[in-house]
Amino acid sequence: MTDTDRARGARELFGARFGGAPDGVWLAPGRANLMGEHTDYNEGYVLPFALGQGVAVAAARGAAGRLALCSRQRPSRETEIALDDLAPGQVTGWAAYPAGVAWALRSAGYRVPGARIAVDSDVPEGAGLSSSAALECATALALTELAGLDVPRAELAGLARRAENDFAGVPSGIMDQSASLLCEPGHALLLDCRSRESSQIPFDPARGGSRLLLINTRARHELTAGEYGRRRAECEQAARLLGVPSLRYLTDEGETGRLSDPVLRRRARHVVTDNARVLCVVALLGSASGAAYPEIGALLTQAHLSLRDDFEISWPEADVAVDAALDAGAFGARMIGGGFGGSVLALVPAGARDVVRAAVTGAFAGRSWTEPGFLETAPSGSARRLSG
Ligand code: GLA
Repeated sequence: MTDTDRARGARELFGARFGGAPDGVWLAPGRANLMGEHTDYNEGYVLPFALGQGVAVAAARGAAGRLALCSRQRPSRETEIALDDLAPGQVTGWAAYPAGVAWALRSAGYRVPGARIAVDSDVPEGAGLSSSAALECATALALTELAGLDVPRAELAGLARRAENDFAGVPSGIMDQSASLLCEPGHALLLDCRSRESSQIPFDPARGGSRLLLINTRARHELTAGEYGRRRAECEQAARLLGVPSLRYLTDEGETGRLSDPVLRRRARHVVTDNARVLCVVALLGSASGAAYPEIGALLTQAHLSLRDDFEISWPEADVAVDAALDAGAFGARMIGGGFGGSVLALVPAGARDVVRAAVTGAFAGRSWTEPGFLETAPSGSARRLSG
C-alpha cells in the first residue's frame, strides 16, 4: 500500500461518515525496535525504526468544543465527546487514544479545536508494532496543525505518551511515540531515555545484503494485562535496593550481583545487558565491517535469550519462530515490544528470506498453531501530513 492509498482510505471514510472533505490527512507509522527492550522506562537506550505501515487520520475542524471520532477498523464504535468532559477513564476502547491526545494537549495548555477525525490503519493490531502509539501521534499532529500550533516533536511524543499512560491507563514508556514522531527513512533512532537526546543512526540492511523480516506470531499481547506493570515495578525495586535512581545508572553487569533476590537480579541483568547491546549495535552500524549484519544478528539472538530467561516475557510462538529462523539461516532474531505476544524481528541474509519464512510457517504448522504473518520492512519516515 502506498501513502496515496492510505490517504485515499482515510479520506473516503471521512466523506462516508461525516460528509465532505477533510482539511488534511496525517499519517504516523508503527515501529519495530532493533535493540533495547524494557529499557525506556529504566531511563536507558532504545534503537527503534519506523515501519512503512501506519495510521492515517483524515481530520477537519468541527463543531466548537466537540470531538467526533470514527475508525474503519472499529466501524461500530463511533464516538462524539465534548472536549470539556474529557477525563481519564471516561472514554474506553480505541477512542481513548485519540481522545486522550486531545485531553493531554489541553492539560498542557494548548488550545484544541473541535474536530472530526476518521481513522484508517494498515499497522497489524495486537502484533506489538505500536498501532496505538501511531494512532496517538497521527491525532496529535492533526489536532496541532488544525489549531495552527507548532509543537516540537519531542514534546508531542511526551504528550502522546501522557495520553496513553494517564488517559488510556497503559503504563508504557516513551519509545513508541518517539519512534513514530522522530524516525527518519534509512535510519534507526538512538534515543537516550534519560536525557531524551536522540540521534539518527544510518541503518540500511538492504545495502548490507540483508533484510528485516517481521514475524507476527498471532499471539495477542495486552499491555494493560499486568505483567508489563509488574516488570516496571520490579525494575524500580531493584534500582532502589541498589541505591541508584534507575537501572540506567548501572553499567557493569556484575553490580547486579548485589541483589539477593534472584528474580530482581535477572530483571536488572537484562536491562544492563540490553543497554550495552544497543550501544554495540550502534557501533557496528557505524563500522564499515562486512560482518556488521551477522554480528548484529548475533546480538539480536542474545537479546532474545535475555528477554526469555532473565526478563521472562517471551512466549512459546516467539521462541519457536526465533529457533526456526536461526535454523534456516537468519543472522539473528528476537521478540520485540512489551512481551507475551506480538512479533519477532529477524535479520536475514537477502537470499534466505523465503527459506526462513517457510521454516517458521512449517514449525507453526507442525504444532497446529495459527499461521504466522510476515512483513518485510525497511526503516521508514516519521509522522507527516499526507495531503490537504
Ligand atoms: C511497549 C511499550 C514501550 C516499551 C516496550 C518494551 O512497546 O509501549 O514503551 O517499554 O514495550 O521495550
